[in-house]
Amino acid sequence: MKRILVTGATGQIGSELTMALRYIYGNENVIAARHSRQPSPDIAATGPIVSFDVRDQSALIKVVKDQQIDTIYHLASLLSAVAEKMPQKAWDINMNGLMNVLETARMMRCAVFFPSSIGAFGPLTPAINTPQDTIQRPNTMYGVTKVSGELICDYYQQRFAVDVRGLRYPGLISYKTQAGGGTTDYAVEIFYAALQKKTYQCFLAESTQLDMMYMPDAVKAAISLMQADSQQLIHHNAFNITSISITPGQLAAEIKRHIPEFTITYKVDPVRQAIADSWPRHMDDQCAFLEWGWQAEFTLSEMVKDMLEKLAVKLTGGCDVIG
Ligand code: SER
Repeated sequence: MKRILVTGATGQIGSELTMALRYIYGNENVIAARHSRQPSPDIAATGPIVSFDVRDQSALIKVVKDQQIDTIYHLASLLSAVAEKMPQKAWDINMNGLMNVLETARMMRCAVFFPSSIGAFGPLTPAINTPQDTIQRPNTMYGVTKVSGELICDYYQQRFAVDVRGLRYPGLISYKTQAGGGTTDYAVEIFYAALQKKTYQCFLAESTQLDMMYMPDAVKAAISLMQADSQQLIHHNAFNITSISITPGQLAAEIKRHIPEFTITYKVDPVRQAIADSWPRHMDDQCAFLEWGWQAEFTLSEMVKDMLEKLAVKLTGGCDVIG
């Protein structure tokens, strides 16, 4: 029987991944770890919650021991824009948190999931069909922590045989929990604004193309990778996965098909624009497909339709159910 700990369980990915894992492995077997954010009502109602800071290794070890954890999904981290505002703190949380998780996993023989990102790439990376193994050299603190995270995960896998696996996520779009502090957050904010105000002022330029993904695909990717036959994995960590590669202009046009009065304006934030410009436009995810069968389900039009429907229910006070 699996006993799973999810750090960052109240964040954008965690709030949905935790519920999906509880559905598969049983509510009582998936422990949601939180620190600063309050848990969503469904996480609070369906299973165990623990509260600690991932930088506190003794607290982490105690939870892993007490709860007999065998798998850790380590999602707690600061995102790109907020990390640029407080780079030292971002290093502390993102790297020391990950080191604590890996060391705990080494000592207690746990498997680990670590999410890397398009942010692990930089301006020298080929931006189109970005290969799985290529030059990275990110120039943001978020990227530095993600590429360092990829390397330290590979090290623990090779040196200590810790079963650590991971993905490079594109920008993630979801209706349940907002990300906060990311460069790709525009692609979530735009839906709230479209439904509530019929207009959105975008902080990235109209033609800024980036890889994006709808949360159900992101959740499916993490679980499929962790369930994959380890004999088939050549890479283990930092798999490129891709889905929808779009610009703010294209996303706005698709939303307009559902809300014809919707308008978008652009007021570029130079910090986030520079970050976005240093990231790939479209990653090549062949290795993920070949090694563990990765394939995204949602197209742009399917994602926009589903987002608008689910977010409208949420904003009018309806309950949102993870299926
Ligand atoms: N969504 C993240 C960010 O914008 C990238 O992985 O920081």
